[in-house]
Amino acid sequence: MSDTTRFALNGEAVESQAGPMARLLDVLRTEFRLTGTKEGCGEGECGACSVLVDGTVVCACLVPMVQIAGRSVETIEGIAHGVDLDPLQEAFISEGGVQCGACTPGMVLTARAFLDKNPNPDHSEIREHLAGNLCRCTGYVGIYRAMERVIADMQGDAS
Ligand code: FES
Ligand code: FES
Repeated sequence: MSDTTRFALNGEAVESQAGPMARLLDVLRTEFRLTGTKEGCGEGECGACSVLVDGTVVCACLVPMVQIAGRSVETIEGIAHGVDLDPLQEAFISEGGVQCGACTPGMVLTARAFLDKNPNPDHSEIREHLAGNLCRCTGYVGIYRAMERVIADMQGDAS
């Protein structure tokens, strides 16, 4: 089995020599220096390492590189546009959804993927969808408020 894995990373074609069983999380952080993706539990339980693979949220701590060949990976570094943050990132900051920041990249990516598919969820749907992303600091209130603000802004833009 070849050690080379070719895939798209934040819109650019890349290749990794880390080997087929290397964890995507380690490849992102050490080979590509994309340290926005965090390691929490390392066991698929906390969501800190969430990234998007072909638009679906996955735990990068559980994914071997062999499963990434030919796929498209998006990390937190890929959702801003230069110095312009994604509206969710802005809202997390302004609504108090960030404290230590360990959960934030995974939380924002999970929220972004959810809102791209469900632009107008209610509060209980937001809570349910973010249930796999654990936060020890914020009590979640600022996180939910940030999401609801972005949803309200999107609805306002659409009217
Ligand atoms: Fe991957 Fe916790 S570090 S789910
Ligand atoms: Fe610290 Fe969520 S802000 S874990």
